Parts: sequence; structure tokens; C-alpha cells
Amino acid sequence: MPIYEPGLLEVVKECRGRNLFFSTDLDKEIEEADIIFISVNTPTKTKGIGAGRAANIKNCELCARHIAKVATSSKIVVEKSTVPVRTASAIERILKSNEKGFSFEVLSNPEFLAEGTAIPDLMKPDRVLIGGQQTPEGLAAAEALVSVYAHWVPREQILTTNLWSSELSKLVANAFLAQRVSSINSISALCEATGADVSEISRAVGMDDRIGKRFLMPSVGFGGSCFQKDILNLVYLCETYGLKECAEYWNHVIAMNDFQKRRFSEKVVSSMFNTVTGKKITLLGYAFKKDTGDVRETPSMFVLRDLFNEQARIHVYDPQVKREDMWSELAYTCGLDHTSTPGLEAAVVTETDVYKACEGSHGICILTEWDEFKTLDYQKIYDSMSKPAFVFDGRLLVDHKELRKIGFEVHVIGKPDPNKFSGV
Ligand code: UDX
Repeated sequence: MPIYEPGLLEVVKECRGRNLFFSTDLDKEIEEADIIFISVNTPTKTKGIGAGRAANIKNCELCARHIAKVATSSKIVVEKSTVPVRTASAIERILKSNEKGFSFEVLSNPEFLAEGTAIPDLMKPDRVLIGGQQTPEGLAAAEALVSVYAHWVPREQILTTNLWSSELSKLVANAFLAQRVSSINSISALCEATGADVSEISRAVGMDDRIGKRFLMPSVGFGGSCFQKDILNLVYLCETYGLKECAEYWNHVIAMNDFQKRRFSEKVVSSMFNTVTGKKITLLGYAFKKDTGDVRETPSMFVLRDLFNEQARIHVYDPQVKREDMWSELAYTCGLDHTSTPGLEAAVVTETDVYKACEGSHGICILTEWDEFKTLDYQKIYDSMSKPAFVFDGRLLVDHKELRKIGFEVHVIGKPDPNKFSGV
């Protein structure tokens, strides 16, 4: 598989050649299909109007134009890509202005699966959302798609709405999820200042049914290809419709995330006697979450950038991330090109052996919650490190008491520092 996703290979192996086929013969496939899903990238615009915030729907438009050009019969065209609200009307206009005696119906069917759990999310989704025009043709098209999902999803979990609600729901779902992470992360900073414990707060707050337990895990910041992009898109939409206060409100979710990532790097530097220049620092985990090799918007990248600017020697261990992916994302998002940034290539070493990555290190930063980091031989790691040996846990992952017993100086997001507060 071109990507690491638990369970995906098994599904493809089982279905390929049966009811799953891969093809590059675009025109033939369009001609034969009854339902076509547009599942292309909609990256944040890098240039022009709305640069840095608006989503570029160029790829969706190109798909619509191509479908319109080659189709010889009626089609249902499904927007699967995450798009700004009202994109369907653009697709619809392109398709309808090219109709040649048959019809096109556009549906919105946003994807809610998360990386690392894509297969269970596919098999047992919380809900499937299908938006369509509230016309007899639109309703019939929506029903056709409902009947596809109904093969494995209970009908009551398949929601049908109008097109615009469906498009907007996807952005709102991601914004709400990210908002919860930013909310708990803002509290993590307050916990460190007051001696409260963020895990205890998450638990106490999450046990209120109205709030719920999930997505209250503090971290070094959220990453991934969706949260930031979708919120920026939402912010841009609010601005477009003159809703300045709404735009500002959602923008703060991102500002808090940036603060959390920066705060982590600053904590590393300030704890290590205000300098990491020339020191070996180990990053455990580079993916934006466990069980994926995806590094888009990963918080680890921002920590790496900050430590590089502080002239540290950085050793990275991640069980799934490829060095070339690390470089391309660093260049794309941080503008740090390893081929042209003096010293970058030499300053960053990627390791395949976690113990080697930690050997001689002054400090370890735990940045992705990979399960294997919970059971490492920390005594062995401690013995091989420069002293004092620091651990900065950005994922509340390891047994901090145990690590302190070994001799580490441990700093954890949202947890009181026992040297600063008594009775914690
Ligand atoms: C997200 C949405 O969950 C999914 O529905 C949508 O289809 C795509 O975007 P994904 O980005 O794959 O999925 O991962 P998710 O599990 O949502 O995590 C996003 C980021 O938030 C990760 O960096 C994760 O570590 C972080 N996170 C999540 C926290 O820091 N704390 C939490 O409690 C939950």
C-alpha cells in the first residue's frame, strides 16, 4: 500500500478483482459509471485571493469539466472531497451547462473517517451524511446513494439533508473537534501554572454526559491534513459573508494550537538551562498521531523547526514516517527546504533504532502517542544519555513517576511539576 493504515491492505486484498477495481482509463470508467465520487485534494490556496485560508477547489472543478465532457448518459456526481459550502452549485453549473440530453445530479457525501482508524470508521461509522437538492430528482439521487450505504450501515444512521447543510457539516464537525483539543490545551497551560492536573480535569469534565469524554486529550497540538485546513476554510467563509466575529472566534482555535506548539518548544529550551545549542535532542514520534505515517501539519515539525533554529542536533525516531515525507512537509509548510537551508540536512538525523536515537541525548521529546513508547526500557535509555537527562512528554504517554524514580527530569503537558508544587 502507498500509505500505512491498519487493516487497509486486508480490505483491498479481499475486494480487489471482486467489486474493487483500479484503473487509469478515466474516460471509460466515467462512461460506465452510474455514480461518480469526486475524491480529490482541496488544499489551502497558496496564492491569490484568500491565500493561506481558502480551499482551492480547482481539482473538483476539473473533475466536473471532465465528467461533463465524456459522459454519454445520466450520472450522479458525489462530492466526497471536503469543500467550502456551495461548491456543489459550481459543480452543478458546470455539469448542467454541458448537458446533452441526459441529466446530472450532484450530491454531497462528506467523509468523516479518521486516519489510523479508517477501517473501523468505514465499517461502523457514527453516521453517513448525504446532501442533495430537495427536488424530486435530487431526492431520488440521494436515495440511490443511501441504498448503497444501507448494505452495511443501519438506515437510521444515514442522514439526508440539503446540499449546503451537508457541505457545511463537515467543516463544522472538524472545527468542533479541533476546538475541544484547543480548549483542553488552553487548560493544560493553566494547570502547569497552578498545580492542577489536566488529566484529572479531563476526566472530571468529560464524565458530564453533556460534554462527553472523547477529544479531551491534551497534546503538543493537533495536526493532520484536516483540522487546520478546514477551520481556515470556515474562517474564510465567515469573512466572505461579512461575519467578522464568527471568523475571529474560529481563528482562535488555530491561534491556541500555535501557542501550544510554541509553548512546548519554549519549555524544552528553558528547562535545559536556556540553551540547546549543540545538544542532541531526540524526537520520539513524528507522525501527527499514532498508527499513521502521515506528517501533514504534524506538531513534531514545528518542534523540530524551533529546535533547529536553536541550533540543536535533532535525532528523530518514528516507526512509520519516511525521511523524504518529513522533508517535503517541512518545505511545504515551514518553508524550510533541506536542500537550500544551510545546516538543516546535517542537523536532523532520522533513526531506525529507538535506543540509538536516544544514546548520548540530552533530552527526549515524546511527540506522537505510539504504543511502543510506553514499554521502552527507560532505564537502558537513561543510562545511555547525557545527564541531567530530560524527558518532555507532549502526549501524557509514559509513567512519569517511574521515570522520575530512574532519575529523569520529567516535564509533562498539563501536569504539575513536583519540584514546583508540593502534594501533587
Ligand atoms: C479528523 C477527524 O477526526 C475526521 O472525522 C475527519 O474525517 C478528518 O479529520 P484525523 O485528522 O485523521 O481525523 O485525526 P484525529 O483523530 O481527529 O486527530 C487530529 C489531531 O488531533 C491529531 O494530531 C491528534 O493527535 C489530535 N488530538 C485528537 C488531540 O490532541 N487530542 C485529542 O483528544 C484528540
